[in-house]
Amino acid sequence: MARYRIVHTGQPPGAPFTEERRALAEAGVDAEIVSYGKCATPARVIEAARDADVVVIGSEPFPAEVVAALPKARALIRYGVGFDTIDVDAATAHGVLVCTIPAPDFCADELSSHVMAFLLACARKLVPLDRAVRAGVWREGATRAMTLAAGGVAGETLGVVGLGNLGRATARKALALGFNVIAFDPYVEKEATAALGVEPVSLADLLRRSDYVSIHAPLNRETYHLIDAAALAQMKPTAYLINTARGPLVDEAALVEALRSGTIAGAGLDTFEAGEPLPEDSPLLDLDNVLLTPHSAAFSYRSMPTLQRRVGEEAVKVLRCVRPASVVNPAVLERPNRLTWGM
Ligand SMILES: NC(=O)c1ccc[n+]([C@@H]2O[C@H](COP(=O)([O-])OP(=O)(O)OC[C@H]3O[C@@H](n4cnc5c(N)ncnc54)[C@H](O)[C@@H]3O)[C@@H](O)[C@H]2O)c1
Repeated sequence: MARYRIVHTGQPPGAPFTEERRALAEAGVDAEIVSYGKCATPARVIEAARDADVVVIGSEPFPAEVVAALPKARALIRYGVGFDTIDVDAATAHGVLVCTIPAPDFCADELSSHVMAFLLACARKLVPLDRAVRAGVWREGATRAMTLAAGGVAGETLGVVGLGNLGRATARKALALGFNVIAFDPYVEKEATAALGVEPVSLADLLRRSDYVSIHAPLNRETYHLIDAAALAQMKPTAYLINTARGPLVDEAALVEALRSGTIAGAGLDTFEAGEPLPEDSPLLDLDNVLLTPHSAAFSYRSMPTLQRRVGEEAVKVLRCVRPASVVNPAVLERPNRLTWGM
């Protein structure tokens, strides 16, 4: 039996964990990594992870009762950036580290390219034009009107909500395409924003001025439904909303209504409030003016193995009591209570 047990709460039984295992083996850490299928409920997470020294997680639920039921866990390591499924306060109270893998380490290029793909597809009306050609329509009627309504993007305004790693990567690509980029982020200094060639603005100004709004803020109590009916009403009727962050940042029912009524022109969505996978009865599926992708903006043949390897490397650090690279609750390191962190 291995000295340490790492449990993945979101993978099928027998998943290969090739990159994670390689990182552990190269570091000479005697740890097994196991999985029992996707744990969709707190009870299933507890069942799978109660003996774990480290839990590595996708989007499974970690409310307070789960954290309290993991007596050995030193750390919860999230495959990715967002940690909105974890009760961080409970983890801190129990001395459990919450770690993430920052976007520059694995997906900043992929996700910002995904946003550019949404922007350009919307600007050039790619999806309806593709459908029209397949239906045998060639620059006639509605297709002709669409073609003439299609824009270039130079000089158009992109509003970035949340100017962290992914907001910045998106802004950089948009600037290269000739967009005028404005941003709202209450936690980034105006000077730092301006230094990127981006104009710092209020959320109200961003919504009023943008031809495209791209969301890159974390999901938390403060940002839940940041884009609600009132926010959508402030946008231009020709504007598009892009959400690759987290579904509940947008009031999805209000968005459906705005898309139906022409309050805004369209949307590109990678993340959803109604649930993931998107439920079969989601009204979004019946709308022509929305582009949908399955929470795939960060994925590529390059980013996934990189992410898996980084999770393995962070598990090595945790098991060796070395400070991981991205700790959400560093207070745990300052007043250790499960083990002595050697940093
Ligand atoms: N679709 C995907 O596959 C995918 C992949 C990675 C990350 N994400 C999501 O993208 C989000 C952003 O990732 P990141 O790496 O840029 O994170 P980050 O922490 O580097 O940046 C988040 C930024 O949002 C800002 N912010 C916080 N509250 C805000 C508010 N109320 N209004 C505006 N801005 C606010 C922060 O100040 C910070 O600058 C993550 O939280 C995650 O939910 C999605």
